[in-house]
Amino acid sequence: MKSLSKIPLIIDTDPGHDDALAIMLLIKSERFDIQAVTTVAGNTTIQNTTNNARYILDLLQSSIPLYSGAAAPLRQKLICANVHGENGLAGAQITKKELLNNLAVTKIIELVRTAPSKVSLLVIGPQTNIALAFKQDLELPKLIKQIVIMGGAIAVPGNKNAVAEFNIFVDPEAADIVFRAPVKKIVIPLDVCNDIFLTLADFRRLKKSKLYRPIMAMMKHYIQGIKIFERTKGALMYDPLAAYYLLNPRAYETKKMDVRIETTSDLTRGMSVADRRNWGEKKYNAHVVTKINRDQFVEDFINTLNT
Ligand code: RIB
Ligand code: CA
Repeated sequence: MKSLSKIPLIIDTDPGHDDALAIMLLIKSERFDIQAVTTVAGNTTIQNTTNNARYILDLLQSSIPLYSGAAAPLRQKLICANVHGENGLAGAQITKKELLNNLAVTKIIELVRTAPSKVSLLVIGPQTNIALAFKQDLELPKLIKQIVIMGGAIAVPGNKNAVAEFNIFVDPEAADIVFRAPVKKIVIPLDVCNDIFLTLADFRRLKKSKLYRPIMAMMKHYIQGIKIFERTKGALMYDPLAAYYLLNPRAYETKKMDVRIETTSDLTRGMSVADRRNWGEKKYNAHVVTKINRDQFVEDFINTLNT
């Protein structure tokens, strides 16, 4: 059978337990030519997200280049998450302090321009690096194949304030730049993430995997954090659900929507406002995921990590 050619991909991330699982899924799938992992401040500081990214790549014995990026959002001060613990990856044995080369934006531009319209971006943290790249290179959006974004809350409450999803809450200005940019966007919002979580019993199905012990050590902390701060009884799979779209888009239903980001109101900053009226002039700017085949995701996730 013709071997599938590998999909050129850049992962922009703020590890974070769910980021870690997303990166593991994509690397273990062996379906991607992952040209870079770029880090951004979000779940925790840029030093911690970069240390955590190094830890994940080392766990996978991966030589994928790692480039650190923005230490703060475009305008407001950094507000970190609580669920991931002090260093952003509670339960992981982080031993290295990774050098911050601050090359994320430069490398995103360079790699996309090397293969115009071929490279996909998976953006699973605040969109600061992407916005900086678009500000630096006005042509860049048209040269990107697609951006798959974990972010937004369309018809459900926020998870960081009443209306805002965390990644957009941290840097609404960046998200506004990205959502206005002329590039194909696939958006995986809280609406489809809130009901898909894995329990420790699910993770115990990874017993055969070399990653079993570190994953269990991390998930015990993550599940506890989610229980305390998001009142859910398992590991919410925000970023792995965004990553899985790249592996199996047929497991997803999407709807074209006109999504704008609130950047001015103190009350609703970070809200992703989708015009869902069935009338009125619309400027569709995103394919928003409205349904995911949960069983297919869980089976493929477990089977891929067990390889
Ligand atoms: O709202 C969930 C998102 O915020 C996920 O990407 C999680 O890792 C945090 O970054
Ligand atoms: Ca994340």
